[in-house]
Amino acid sequence: MCFSSELMQYFGGKQRIANEIIKTLTEYADKDQTLVEPFVGGCNVISKMRGERYCYDINEYLIEMYKAIQNGWIPPKCITKEQYDHIKENKDYDKALTGFVGIGCSYSGKWFGGYAKNNTGRNYCLNAHNSIMKQKDDIMGINFLACDYRDLVHNSCLIYCDPPYKGTTQYSISGKFDTSEFWDTIRKWSKNNTVIVSEYTAPDDFRCIKKNTY
Ligand SMILES: C[S@@+](CC[C@H](N)C(=O)[O-])C[C@H]1O[C@@H](n2cnc3c(N)ncnc32)[C@H](O)[C@@H]1O
Repeated sequence: MCFSSELMQYFGGKQRIANEIIKTLTEYADKDQTLVEPFVGGCNVISKMRGERYCYDINEYLIEMYKAIQNGWIPPKCITKEQYDHIKENKDYDKALTGFVGIGCSYSGKWFGGYAKNNTGRNYCLNAHNSIMKQKDDIMGINFLACDYRDLVHNSCLIYCDPPYKGTTQYSISGKFDTSEFWDTIRKWSKNNTVIVSEYTAPDDFRCIKKNTY
């Protein structure tokens, strides 16, 4: 028997607390303000908000997957271990499929973190398929671009950042994340934008606006 839960897992994903974050962002957003998410990952946050939206991630395969979904691509419902290994070794053959499999069919939603086995009757691929198809309406109209956050230039926007956390497992695709460089970038962006960051800790010149009570 196959059964699936509602959500595709994304390593470090905010799907379970997205509503709380959106509530906070909504409090800080000006009317019709452009929304920007530089570390979009599982696309769980500004996808639920409306207006002009820009989503970025350094993972080009993930971004290609979102663009393909917008263009009507339907991801598979089942991927074997052999197919998973083949896609892992041939990532550029079909980037959208690679993005889907690298996360949706991987252990804990970690980028090619090991084939998620269907051992308890759970079909992870079907789970991911259902989850992304459910997300489709929410992601229509978002501008997706594969980009390193350090290359972004935005003004007068509300920027929500959910970066790789300091001292936690790194995202293999992006190499080592430099947290102090990140906070310097946020200082720069904050001059012309409203910037909200999800992190466990922050330098002293940042204000904590919400504690994680959820
Ligand atoms: C914590 S996850 C984001 C989770 C997302 N908010 C969610 O709810 O699913 C961090 C993301 O940052 C991306 N990332 C890491 N380094 C980056 C960089 N230098 N520029 C842009 N994105 C980067 C990773 O690929 C990953 O998708």
